[in-house]
Amino acid sequence: MIIIMLGAPGTGKGTVASMLEKNIGIKQISTGDIFRKNMQEKTELGKIAEKYISKGNLVPDDITIQIVKDRLEQKDVQNGAILDGFPRTIEQAKALDKILEEKSKKVDMVLNLTTPEDEIIERIVNRRICSNPECKTIYNLVMNPPKQEGICDKCGSKIVQRKDDNEETIKSRIKLYMEQTSPLIKYYEEKGILRTEEVSIKINHLGKDVAEEVAKDINNIAK
Ligand code: AP5
Ligand code: MG
Repeated sequence: MIIIMLGAPGTGKGTVASMLEKNIGIKQISTGDIFRKNMQEKTELGKIAEKYISKGNLVPDDITIQIVKDRLEQKDVQNGAILDGFPRTIEQAKALDKILEEKSKKVDMVLNLTTPEDEIIERIVNRRICSNPECKTIYNLVMNPPKQEGICDKCGSKIVQRKDDNEETIKSRIKLYMEQTSPLIKYYEEKGILRTEEVSIKINHLGKDVAEEVAKDINNIAK
């Protein structure tokens, strides 16, 4: 089963994807996490990605598509994957269709998360993440703080702020989302596989209800 997490920055794609991963036993693949790991390890890819990410720009399609293509070859995702943050352009979406077609697979569900823009900015400036790339737990200083300040509850590593998590960069990321990524809503709507859920503090705590509902439906389909 291939699931895509779609939505503007800060709508909770990573948060909901990691809950879903636990509920349905399918691995999350986050292009953002792959880039951040490479940035931390100062690999060639990391150096290239940092130039784009630190300014809130998208990493070029050819680089990103190749990374996902290679990742989808690995053994642990042969029963499915939750793609978090990919595709992000129509070109990436078409390339993904082709990659999956060659494997006799297809995109089964696109989970499109929406959140009011003022809430997005508030969330992003208060987001902190675990610095351990094997853990990557997402926190929020207001909504979901770690038990001990600056320390990850799960693995004890240091908690840090992402380089692109400031008000200036987030505004350009939202603009880019509107221009380049939001056309994907129509693309997948026309294929009949889009599911839109509003994930807001006023509606559901950290998207837990959304992840549980979606997991229930997927488990029912699988039966
Ligand atoms: P990426 O890491 O994918 O960032 P993004 O799309 O900007 O999304 P975020 O990770 O910021 O938000 P999220 O939706 O995952 O929210 P989260 O769950 O953390 O990409 C980073 C960069 O890499 C891009 O800008 C680009 O440069 C590059 N890149 C990545 N993929 C690419 C691609 N395919 N092509 C080209 N370039 C690419 O939640 C946010 C905060 O809100 C957290 O603090 C969380 O605790 C809190 N929160 C979550 N849900 C709730 C809720 N329901 N109520 C209250 N708070 C909540
Ligand atoms: Mg994320």
